[in-house]
Amino acid sequence: MIDIRPATVDDVPALAALRWEFRAGRATATEDRSAFLARCAEWMRTALIGDWRAWVAVDGDRAGGVRGESDAIVGHVWLCAIGKIPNPSGQRERQAYISNFYVRPTARGGLGRRLLQQAIDWADANGVEYALLTPTPRSRGLYGRHGFHVSEDWLIRPVRGKGL
Ligand SMILES: CC(C)(COP(=O)(O)OP(=O)(O)OC[C@H]1O[C@@H](n2cnc3c(N)ncnc32)[C@H](O)[C@@H]1OP(=O)(O)O)[C@@H](O)C(=O)NCCC(=O)NCCS
Repeated sequence: MIDIRPATVDDVPALAALRWEFRAGRATATEDRSAFLARCAEWMRTALIGDWRAWVAVDGDRAGGVRGESDAIVGHVWLCAIGKIPNPSGQRERQAYISNFYVRPTARGGLGRRLLQQAIDWADANGVEYALLTPTPRSRGLYGRHGFHVSEDWLIRPVRGKGL
């Protein structure tokens, strides 16, 4: 059985490994795997005690009761709460950026929907006005079924300064 729960810093090594699996599977990595895992884990530890939160899907058959065991975490979704400047007119005062949404190929088929719903439920309960994300062509249907649509309210501008 696969359960979904909030991620903790104990999960970070597994989450960094899953990030590598997700992103290095899409484009050729220019960074060495172990260097990336160390850098990503450091970032995730800081993020999870800051404005980010994540939910993980844990395969009970693989978990053996050991939290953070990398094989047991088969999917995740991340959300960053972005504060708005306070308004005196009763508006919700956060946006939520949803990212790093990934389910291992062998666990796909209903799990993505369950993970995404966790992020949406958190946003609903925590003063979020809009949840934002960038879809892939393949994932648009899933997002559409969860109420995401193309907005006319936002303008975006790519920023390409020098360096990272
Ligand atoms: C997106 C993803 C997390 C969904 O998990 P899932 O368990 O497959 O999702 P569900 O079974 O609950 O929902 C099925 C929907 O997911 C989307 N989906 C399915 N496979 C997908 C894939 N390989 N890539 C992107 N989206 C996919 C489709 O919208 C699908 O609906 P459809 O069958 O009507 O087209 C998972 O497929 C995945 O990790 N894909 C690769 C990473 C990715 O594309 N992440 C999203 C980037 S915006």
